[in-house]
Amino acid sequence: MDDALTDFLAAKNNDTTQAHLPYLSQLVREFLSGGKRIRPLLCVTGWQAIGGGDDVEPMVQVAACLEMFHAFALIHDDVMDNSDTRRGRPTIHRTMAAHRALSRGPEEAEWFGVSAAVLLGDLTLTWSDELLHKAGLSPAQLEAALPLLAEMRTELMLGQYLDLHATGELTADVDATLNVYRYKTAKYTIERPLHIGAAIAGAGPQAMAAFTDYALPLGEAFQLRDDLLGVYGDPLITGKSRLDDLRAGKNTALTALALSGADSGQTAQLRRLLGDPLLDEEGADTVRGIFEATRARDGVERMIDDRREQALNALARAPFTADAVAALEQITRMAIVRDS
Ligand code: IPE
Ligand code: IPE
Ligand code: MG
Ligand code: MG
Repeated sequence: MDDALTDFLAAKNNDTTQAHLPYLSQLVREFLSGGKRIRPLLCVTGWQAIGGGDDVEPMVQVAACLEMFHAFALIHDDVMDNSDTRRGRPTIHRTMAAHRALSRGPEEAEWFGVSAAVLLGDLTLTWSDELLHKAGLSPAQLEAALPLLAEMRTELMLGQYLDLHATGELTADVDATLNVYRYKTAKYTIERPLHIGAAIAGAGPQAMAAFTDYALPLGEAFQLRDDLLGVYGDPLITGKSRLDDLRAGKNTALTALALSGADSGQTAQLRRLLGDPLLDEEGADTVRGIFEATRARDGVERMIDDRREQALNALARAPFTADAVAALEQITRMAIVRDS
């Protein structure tokens, strides 16, 4: 799949006489290196679970389409979350601002970086679509996949909107937070990649429902793990900051559980520190201490365990090939037990 992405970007460069396109496609290429590739893996596994057949090449292209879609989601997410680093490197808007700063003042460079990252995100969304249409699927396969891709796009953007909308207004409502996770993460990361692969292999409604029963709990657990890594992870391993969520005042299951278990002093501290754009490591340590004292951190670990159980039980009931069940069990572990 990485070769498919590399070839696609190389073709964009070969076909152009435009001076700036090679720069943009090089940025995309660098951005694409270093991810865990869980969505492509799930897409191909969904196809295999339904007995996809011998010709895996079109599926590799569809997997590349999903990874390119993920690049779009991340490039825009980093703008929205004001993040400095991703996959161990500066985010796209910061990189583009730094290039511009060589010739312009800092404010103009920052605005240029954000605007250019919006465009680069749009470009990756468009390229993701192009990868799908050039994948070599039959008309019937394409017709089966397209409605699911449309759902996935709407769900992700709705989820990101829900996340933005809830940011800065802290809540103790864990269920409200989980609803955001389903849309911003679970569907586009786990459920839809499986559905798209399965639909291309000709899956019926019963198999699609079985994928959903497995995917939604696993997708929630994936985001719950992301939240813990976003506060307790090692930035050298995750490649991301561990202050962003706290500084932005993101509503996470961790903050919701902490608020519901906090005494009045802890509540006041959480409300003062979460959402402070200048929060430093010392302030973050105070917040981490409250997450532990209120047992919110343990609570999130328990929520992850419960969801792993649900996902594995759903898998045990699912009408998939034995090889696919074994692969999905392995992917379940990879999604939940991880440090990046
Ligand atoms: C990060 O996704 C965004 C979330 C949905 C939590 P990944 O954790 O899959 O990121 P990469 O692709 O491995 O960098
Ligand atoms: C996850 O968003 C969903 C996306 C669409 C990227 P987050 O903002 O929680 O993920 P990270 O921690 O930045 O990767
Ligand atoms: Mg975000
Ligand atoms: Mg983010």
